[in-house]
Amino acid sequence: MAQIIPVEVFDIVVFGGTGDLALRKLMPSLYLRDRDAQIPVESRILGVSRSDLTTADYVAQLFEALGRYLDPDDLDDEVWQRFSSRIAHVKLDAMKSDGWDALVKGLEGGEDRARVFYLATSPDLFGPICRNLEGAGVVTPMARVVLEKPIGRDLESACRINDEVGTVFSEDQIFRIDHYLGKETVQNLMALRFANSLFEPLWTNASIDHVQITVAEKIGVEGRGGYYDRSGALRDMVQNHLLQLLCLVAMEPPVRLDKDSVRDEKLKVLQALRPIAGSDVSAKIVSGQYRAGAVDGHPVPAYVEELADDETGAVAESTTETFVVIKAEIDNWRWAGVPFYLRTGKRLPKRSSEIVIQFRPVPHSIFEPGAGALVSNRLVIRLQPDEGVTLSLMTKDPGPGGLRLRSAPLNLSFAETFKVRYPDAYERLLMDVVRGNPTLFMRRDEVEAAWSWIEPILEVWQQSSERPKSYTSGSWGPSAAIALIERDGRTWHDEGE
Ligand code: BG6
Repeated sequence: MAQIIPVEVFDIVVFGGTGDLALRKLMPSLYLRDRDAQIPVESRILGVSRSDLTTADYVAQLFEALGRYLDPDDLDDEVWQRFSSRIAHVKLDAMKSDGWDALVKGLEGGEDRARVFYLATSPDLFGPICRNLEGAGVVTPMARVVLEKPIGRDLESACRINDEVGTVFSEDQIFRIDHYLGKETVQNLMALRFANSLFEPLWTNASIDHVQITVAEKIGVEGRGGYYDRSGALRDMVQNHLLQLLCLVAMEPPVRLDKDSVRDEKLKVLQALRPIAGSDVSAKIVSGQYRAGAVDGHPVPAYVEELADDETGAVAESTTETFVVIKAEIDNWRWAGVPFYLRTGKRLPKRSSEIVIQFRPVPHSIFEPGAGALVSNRLVIRLQPDEGVTLSLMTKDPGPGGLRLRSAPLNLSFAETFKVRYPDAYERLLMDVVRGNPTLFMRRDEVEAAWSWIEPILEVWQQSSERPKSYTSGSWGPSAAIALIERDGRTWHDEGE
């Protein structure tokens, strides 16, 4: 097992301390880092919420959450004792400028430590919280602020939030999180591309026909309807996760693996994305919304039913998209003429995130027609689950009876090869914040460039009376999504599964 290097002593303050993200991801991740002895004993964890909770109540809530979200094998009494002794709950209305004494007291004595303010709240609160942190005098030179996505809901609000946060924290102190960048397999994309000499010469429009990036989920909106319905798949997934994946596939090799070299290259990709506006929106984008259906053989309700007001049982109206497919193009020398098909949706048949690099056909076949069709090579990078890489190659079908060809996979399964636990993305990213390393976080210009590309699409949708197309839960989205790629003479990788 790789050696785990402890970080320096730090304090972390989680705003939204009783929220879904804190309970589901942040606290379990901190617990696991503590279990692996990465967190020094003196470090403190403060959960902030408006609830009237004592620290004992809060600790009990966290205990329950860890039981729910962690593997029972990861739970250990001794670690829990140590972990829970670091925790305190601070009752605070972060929008108000008074009532910050308890937080100030909780941070006392930690002026020389890394101090992390994690804002797991709605983006409207980012600016006011930062101003109040400054007012309370807790923003030390070693302070960092972590902003959860989405940063705003369009370019204008993103710029405003960035301005507001920027009046209190310098860019180096601001960590805009996109948890996809913390996934082991996403980082592995950089290893695959830049630690092997094999792929780079082929990584251009001369050899690649097109790229597919899919992030498919089986889940619906999971009680997050209030947030999701104002957001939709384009803002929730494409503006950040899918565009970040696209950047990592398409960027030029950075000079080195440091914060600015990597982010400069990603920015250039975002700036080279061909704008999709006006009539191009309906030609290159399909949006959908799930209706009732079945996933894994279990009946599931329609999106609008999930949104239904629990008290009245009324079915809400909504034009929010839960699925989107985009044919994106990058206007630069490397990628001219190579479409990047982006696809994401909820209530699809399986949870699967993958990147498919489809190579071009051989220029000329020397084989008899009876040998069978030549299937072009395909590199599939599976991000989750069943993490790994598969390269499909044409081979001779073994045995006598003439030369017949068939496609066979060269398969690297990370689970089988490495036999280690894959840490959750938040575990890695939280430790990067403490260390002050922003390489795997989004820089201000990246976030704004991504919004600049998304915004014209949102505008066309807003002005149009066209609703997202309905698709059955448990299917691969509306049929128009299949037609979009088939019109180009191509098929989705999962076709026929
Ligand atoms: C989040 C989105 O950023 O990513 C969710 O807000 C989505 O809607 C989630 O479900 C997917 O993340 P993962 O790590 O489960 O693929």
